[in-house]
Amino acid sequence: MKITVVGAGAVGATCADNIARKELAEELILLDIKEGFAEGKAIDMMQTATLLGFDTKIKGVTNDYSQTAGSAVAVITSGLPRKPGMTREELIGINAGIVKGVAENILKYSPDAIIIVISNPMDTMTYLALKSLGLPKNRIIGMGGTLDSARFKYYLSVALNCNSNDLQGFVIGGHGDTTMIPLTRYATYQSLPVTELLDQETLDKVAADTMVGGATLTGLLGTSAWYAPGAAGAALVESIVRDEKKLFTCCVSLEGEYGQSDICLGVPVIVGRNGWETIIDYKLNESEQASFNKSADAVRAMNAVLAEMKLV
Ligand code: 2OP
Repeated sequence: MKITVVGAGAVGATCADNIARKELAEELILLDIKEGFAEGKAIDMMQTATLLGFDTKIKGVTNDYSQTAGSAVAVITSGLPRKPGMTREELIGINAGIVKGVAENILKYSPDAIIIVISNPMDTMTYLALKSLGLPKNRIIGMGGTLDSARFKYYLSVALNCNSNDLQGFVIGGHGDTTMIPLTRYATYQSLPVTELLDQETLDKVAADTMVGGATLTGLLGTSAWYAPGAAGAALVESIVRDEKKLFTCCVSLEGEYGQSDICLGVPVIVGRNGWETIIDYKLNESEQASFNKSADAVRAMNAVLAEMKLV
């Protein structure tokens, strides 16, 4: 099994590190445009192999896509990260051209690859990949909701003072500070609805903190977060290569599901060998559906920029 991660920045390198530690592939290609950068990161990671006990061969390459040939999964992290005060949406003009070029190069050498999109604005970049590559929809997966759901469970675990692994909870909708929708009504602590364990004010704060989870970290770090985004990407790779068929929220092409079409948006999906395999229909109430529709409107407005840029 061969996997490629494009972009050796903090998110890409962390994703690669997680993939290697979990031994999800025999061969892992880390590709970056900056001369020598991916090579350096790859050698540094390979020097942890005997310390951590993994046997994945990580190879760094500078922009040489021929080295990625035959990858089963490609994770795209390329593009500029957010700076403090910047929304994910403001990155669209710069990152759209980058992501399109990267995805085309990947497919040239790995025509069967499943593509995981991490670059921001993630919903629009996923839609760009869907529209421009002509791949079956199940092979295009946007990572955002996986990360947002992990953040939701983190904030819930703090509020409940519990082990976060005992929590279940999903964030659907867009991967934007105002477009994501923590599904508080469906979140549970070992089967107990969290709505029975926390008061409304606390639940609202958990949801609000989740929605600005990325921006909070950008403010603290001076750039985008990387540990959780990288780990979220690797969790999706794991579910694919091990055919785990786990349920994650991912940004996928909707064709009438959740009342939306011609858009990629975060919904709960089964992830396995074929990419995302099935959308699970959590019945939304009226206000959740209204939020989902509003989120779709905002993402659709961003997607319109792609047509203006003649990218789709
Ligand atoms: C985040 O939310 C980078 O979008 C990513 O941290």
